[in-house]
Amino acid sequence: MRALKSKPATGLHGELTVPGDKSISHRGIMLGAISEGTTTLTHFLTSADCLSTLAAFQQLGVPIERNETTVTVHGVGLHGLKASPKPLDMGNSGTTTRLIMGLLAGQSFSSTLVGDASLSKRPMKRVSEPLATMGADITTTDGHLPVTINGQQLHAVNYQLKVASAQVKSALILAALQADEPTTLTELLPTRDHTERMLTAFGGEITAGDDGLTITVQPQPQLTGQSMTVPGDMSSAAFFMVAASLVPGSQITLKDVGLNKTRTGLLAILKAMGGHLSVESEPTTGEPIGDLTVQSADLKPISIGKEDIPAVIDELPLVALLAAKANGVSRITGAEELRVKETDRISAIVTEFKKLGIAIEELPDGFVIDGRQPWHVADPVLDAHNDHRIGMVLGIAALLVDQPLQLKGADSVRISYPEFFDDLDKLL
Ligand code: S3P
Repeated sequence: MRALKSKPATGLHGELTVPGDKSISHRGIMLGAISEGTTTLTHFLTSADCLSTLAAFQQLGVPIERNETTVTVHGVGLHGLKASPKPLDMGNSGTTTRLIMGLLAGQSFSSTLVGDASLSKRPMKRVSEPLATMGADITTTDGHLPVTINGQQLHAVNYQLKVASAQVKSALILAALQADEPTTLTELLPTRDHTERMLTAFGGEITAGDDGLTITVQPQPQLTGQSMTVPGDMSSAAFFMVAASLVPGSQITLKDVGLNKTRTGLLAILKAMGGHLSVESEPTTGEPIGDLTVQSADLKPISIGKEDIPAVIDELPLVALLAAKANGVSRITGAEELRVKETDRISAIVTEFKKLGIAIEELPDGFVIDGRQPWHVADPVLDAHNDHRIGMVLGIAALLVDQPLQLKGADSVRISYPEFFDDLDKLL
């Protein structure tokens, strides 16, 4: 149990560089592994999830060294991975699991994937079914882990994705690299495009259609290792952006944060709610980055729906917190994907916010929140539900309460942001 910091007298102040982006760190290892030559990743995220990816690729025979946040991957090429004698442990990481399924589906050996209790409840058919249309031979356990992949020669497809998921899209891209002909994928809504951008940087060929939803992936590329600095994770910076917006008297600057437009939904939402936020972009050749300065502000309510969700998927618990302090009723809908994250995040948010006396109503695909109702702590013991983002949002919510609160399962922050509470302390 961790004692959470309560309302700071003078707000949050100072400058912070958040750890590297989780999505980009995972992909850096994967693309480095299947490239020729060396890949160097600086400002790599050394959280439990990304270390699951690192360890899995070491088990697949890829030499990888890590010195603090610098990782060196000695690529073995698209056909150089080796069978692992024991099951590959995905830990808590959905991204590792879904993406590696696409990659291993086209290899010349079999693999078994296992994971922790939370990951073993998450749906895997969303990946195994579309991969099966390419000729993959994947056996799930009732649609879940453990999963066995018998590598096959894959064939190209023209596939319309059934869920708006970058993990599913990326799995199919990694499979398409090993297919016989070009593969075309069409999304329901645009989702994060890190795989596409990074693959292009490593020498792959992906062409985008005019609709912003369709891509064509060329098979059998010769990929070449790259050196890259991983941008700060927008999804980690988001906790402090929201804290500074809500705690009176705050002003903070978050340095070198990734500003890929498929990830910046929270910036648009905060602005629409009347937040005080300025963005100073920096010139780059790869992923866009910049510094974010946030000051506290009185916020208006917001309504967001299906189309808005992918660009803010991991920040929705924070949008709920913004709504819980806005001067009206906010509606978040079209977010049923939250039910299949590390925990059912809709149910977890409703349960924990009610402990704080927040007026929140659960919907099948989101929530309605009346920020005008004053908070009254009904239960001072909060629970992270074994979910890093729930743990962190509750750590921020505690800053809005006068009395001491405690958090069960605070250790879950190790999944994406091991230094979260230390970094928060730096701003208090
Ligand atoms: C991720 C995609 C998102 C996101 C997850 C990371 C990725 O999941 O929630 O934290 O790196 O591709 P979905 O694509 O399943 O929505």
